[in-house]
Formats: sequence, C-alpha cells, structure tokens
Amino acid sequence: MKTEISRRNFIKASVGAGAASLLSSGKNRLEAAPAPRKPVVISSGNGMRAVDKAMELLRQGQDPLDAVIAGVNIVENDPDVTSVGYGGLPNEEGVVELDASVMHGPTHNGGAVASIRNIKNPSKVAKLVMDRTAHALLVGEGALRFAKAHGFNEENLLTDRARERWLERKEKLSDKDFWYPPKSDELDEDVRAFVDAHGTINCCAVDTKGDLAAVTTTSGFFFKIPGRVGDSPIHGAGLYVDNEVGAAGSTGLGEANILTCGSNMVVEFMRDGHSPEEACLRALKRIVEKANLWPDRLNERGLPSFGLNFYAVNKKGEYGGANIWSGARFSLHDGTQAKKVESAYLFKRPPEKNR
Ligand code: GLY
Repeated sequence: MKTEISRRNFIKASVGAGAASLLSSGKNRLEAAPAPRKPVVISSGNGMRAVDKAMELLRQGQDPLDAVIAGVNIVENDPDVTSVGYGGLPNEEGVVELDASVMHGPTHNGGAVASIRNIKNPSKVAKLVMDRTAHALLVGEGALRFAKAHGFNEENLLTDRARERWLERKEKLSDKDFWYPPKSDELDEDVRAFVDAHGTINCCAVDTKGDLAAVTTTSGFFFKIPGRVGDSPIHGAGLYVDNEVGAAGSTGLGEANILTCGSNMVVEFMRDGHSPEEACLRALKRIVEKANLWPDRLNERGLPSFGLNFYAVNKKGEYGGANIWSGARFSLHDGTQAKKVESAYLFKRPPEKNR
C-alpha cells in the first residue's frame, strides 16, 4: 500500500512539475484573484439546509469540501427528498441506485461512486474514494464493497412512499402486461403529491482563503434502466473545480450534460473572464446548440424538452446560476444570509397549457 501511494505521489509530483513549467511559460496565465472577504456557498434549489450547514462549518474554519459534504448529507438523509439518497425514487426494478462525486480545489483531487446500492451517503463514499484510493470513480458492487470495507452499513433505501410511487408507475406503464393499477380512489393523495419531477443536489463553496470545493449527489433519473449512470458522478459534467478559477455543478438532464462536459465548460468560461452567471448561460447556450442534433430531446417548437441547471462560484466569491428555462431558483449563502435566488435563463417557460 505504501509503495503504491508513494508511486502515485511521485506521478502526481512529476506531472505537477511539468505542468508548472508549461503554465509559467504560457501567455494567458490568470491574474491571481483576491480571495473573498466572506465565504460563499451555492446549491441547487433543494439545498437551503445544505448552504446553511456548509456556511456554519466554513465559519468554523473547516475545509470547504468537508463543509459542502456535511451540507448535502442532510438532504441525502431526508426520506422526503425523492431524488437524493435515502427515499430517492428507484430504478425500473424498484432498486435505489445512487451516484455522487466530490472535487477538492486545493489538491485538484476528486472521487466518485456510481450506481451504488444500500448506502445512504454516497457523497461520503466519494470522498473516501478520493482520499483512500488511487482511483477517481468506483461503480456498483465494487463501490458497495469499498464502502463496507470502510465501515458503512448497508440499509434499505427504498421508503414505502418511493416504493408505492414506483409500483403505481409500473402498473400504469402498459395495458399489455399483467400489472393492474389501483382504482383511482384507492391511490394515496400523499403518494401523488410527493413526486417532484427532477432532483439531484449540487453544492459548491469558496472560503476566505479562496479555496474551492464541490459535491453533487443524486438517485438519478427516476425509474431508470438499472445501471444507468448520470452526470452527477462524472467530473467535468456533474461538477468541476479549478482552484485557480472557480467551481461549478449541475442538476437536470444528466445525459445532455455528460455529452457536453458542462461543468468543465462553465469553469473554462469563468477562466476566460466571464462572470459565474454569464459562464453558466454560455455553457447552456452551447448545450442547446448541440441539442438541435437530438430530435428526441426537442419539443414541437424545436427547443430542448429538458431542463438543465448550472451553479457556479469563482475564486473571488462571485456567484451565479442559470437554467435553460425560466422559473428555476438556486440556494445561496453569501456569508451574511441564506436565500433563494432566481436563476438566469435562456428561454421563458411557456404557460403550462402551451407547452
Ligand atoms: N443530473 C442527474 C442525473 O441526470 O442523474
């Protein structure tokens, strides 16, 4: 183990030295940005509790990655959040499979797990992949065994409400199979009310030293094909951090984001000097241009039929969020207060009846 770690450090050190000499000779070196006077935490709309917790820990001087992970753990543990961790809606076979990734700016290191079952906090396992392996991503059975080796307990993540929602969908999917839906008056209103269409939580932070970190965690697409992996555990898509520039993360249709390396693009637009909001909008515009090649993902007006959000914060503590469509909001703690902020957007969402 020791030999492998030292070999890894040697590789990282050699690459680092080579890259440093390349960078120092480059013409477009970034001006060192001043660190923010206050820490900043940004998260998806479902992340109000996460930004509060992360800010509390940042104020205590904790590392930004530990802070954002502790923030999203609250949401992973909440059985009423149907798109993250415990209580997340399952795959088409009724099994909850979770994806998560983390990225730490100061070390430019990251870890991730995909399609992991029976573990409530995949974000914590992703951090262990970063800290305790030579790898960046573990999947499925291997990820579960790795988590158990580190003392995580297996738990049934399928709540009764998620199971009932899955069963309802299965029973209504086709009239050519042997599953009968319940009569409508037998259906629990609570089950109906409880489905939010999309989920996932991303949380990014910058501390007063200008150090950045991000985490993204999800149960993924509802009723997905078993083994489907979204963007959340993919560095460069579900999140990306460059400690010289900023951090970005995403929620929404993972496939569109994977195929365009969206979060990496947002960080690169910030590197070019764009504000976080402008960087998010530019990345979305690029994705929408590519979406023209995906007829199955366009509505009758030729616009994307999906939603995609980016959230970004730069090294100076400036922040922004954007969605393809109007109406989205993100969660923010600006060092003074936690609040919901309207996301910028590319297209005004038409009234329900015209969609
Ligand atoms: N963005 C989450 C997913 O597509 O799985």
